[in-house]
Amino acid sequence: MKKTLLLVALFTICFAGIGFASNPPIIPLPQSHSMAKGSFKIKDQLTIYFDDSFANDAYYLQKQIFDIKGITASFGSDKNSADIILEQKSQKNKQEGAYTLAISESKISISSENDLGIFNGIASLLQLITIAESEIDCWTIEDYPLHGWRGFMLDESRHFFGKEKVKQILDYMAFYKLNRFHWHLTDDPGWRIEIKKYPHLAYTGGIGNMTYPNDPPQYYTQEEVKEIVRYAAERKIEVIPEIDMPGHARAANRAYPEYSGGGSKSHPEFTFDPANEDTYQYLTDILKEINVLFPSEMIHLGGDEVHFGNEQWKHNDKIKELMEKEGMKDLAEVEKYFMVRMADSLYAMNNTFLAWDEMAEISLPTDKTIMFWWRHDRKDQLQKALEKNYPVILCPRIPFYIDFVQDEDHTTGRRWGKEYSPLELVYEFNTKNLVDSKYDSQVLGLQANLWAETIQTKQRVDYLTFPRISAFAEAAWGQNNDYDDYLNRLESHLPIYRNDNVFFFNPFDHSENPEPKK
Ligand code: ACM
Repeated sequence: MKKTLLLVALFTICFAGIGFASNPPIIPLPQSHSMAKGSFKIKDQLTIYFDDSFANDAYYLQKQIFDIKGITASFGSDKNSADIILEQKSQKNKQEGAYTLAISESKISISSENDLGIFNGIASLLQLITIAESEIDCWTIEDYPLHGWRGFMLDESRHFFGKEKVKQILDYMAFYKLNRFHWHLTDDPGWRIEIKKYPHLAYTGGIGNMTYPNDPPQYYTQEEVKEIVRYAAERKIEVIPEIDMPGHARAANRAYPEYSGGGSKSHPEFTFDPANEDTYQYLTDILKEINVLFPSEMIHLGGDEVHFGNEQWKHNDKIKELMEKEGMKDLAEVEKYFMVRMADSLYAMNNTFLAWDEMAEISLPTDKTIMFWWRHDRKDQLQKALEKNYPVILCPRIPFYIDFVQDEDHTTGRRWGKEYSPLELVYEFNTKNLVDSKYDSQVLGLQANLWAETIQTKQRVDYLTFPRISAFAEAAWGQNNDYDDYLNRLESHLPIYRNDNVFFFNPFDHSENPEPKK
């Protein structure tokens, strides 16, 4: 009897919250957490104290608390009486972005060594505030990311979605602690960024999209690009533009055909001309403007799938002459020659050269080059990049091309044979299953890519992105060990999507938002 009473008492203490807790409803799940008794009541008046270097974070927090709860927090200079404290403090974990979030009944403290960590702590707190009715449990969270690069790519060439959609994606990236926005701005259907020196890239190259090739031009002006870059920076997100070359260049070639290297029957006007000296100056001038617009000092130059459309290179006398002069034996070498020259242009601007995994063939300085492994059926190409000491981003089609369908029953969207990218597969991705630990330091991180061939509407952007963006974020953060627990936490995020009119795929009830067919 005594024993039973003792057990009941112990049980009661546990459920009262001493030393026992399930996981906090945070995605990605923090690396370590514990819950104490009690809760912090969210009052109508909150005071925020911040150490000097965290002023921008404090403004962000203030604005978000107002947007989420309508509460007008003010700043206070007395640390002792503040409700929320942002302070600089050494962290046990030295990974960039490490932070501690400690919530007691009387105050909330976020500490980190730098503003990236403070921002991550704010992101965790904002999730708790968003989900809470009026009080937050007393969590102590010590957290840090596994991967420094947690990226999301959006293709706006195939179809154009516009700056409000981009800002919403950036909002959710920040919400889920993603920190690199890769913007695929040029490809065959449309050129989507204003270049002052070559205005027809936007006026003419921007005409049409994959569905309606004659639609009026759609592109971002340089002022709009600056606005997006600023918006992202407020959320600690770096924006990395992609200007694809030497293939995927049809839109550019419509505007300035004098730099076209032709194409093939299935991919007309697909390439820039590698044998025209002026092509290099033209593209370098474009990249100089891009460099001014994007403070990330990284530009992705594509380099993918050139063989789709370089048929005409075989019949071009100037290219034959160039091959002879440079001792190049095939068109693959011409491609490399072109990319090395363009990489040199980027290096001269003090930029890092980013490219798809086809470019792992080239030998370039590994401290200024990053390879994106995308061909999941070509693990050899990842291995080659690693063996050549390149830093890599992992974005294999399966499971990280999130324009692939996410459910067996879905009909619109891509598949790779029978393979596709269900939520669970995105969630479970583990670098350790793919890369030998001796290369750990070369794996900068992970990226989810949203290509837009099969996306005509913003609704479909949502449907493909949500909720997979959250599963991806957990994989990139490195706490993706329990899918059922993730699903539990995800359930508490669905009302956030509903409230925000996000047209998400509901994995618990497929009928909530039916698959948009375009
Ligand atoms: C790619 O999907 N062509 C990088």
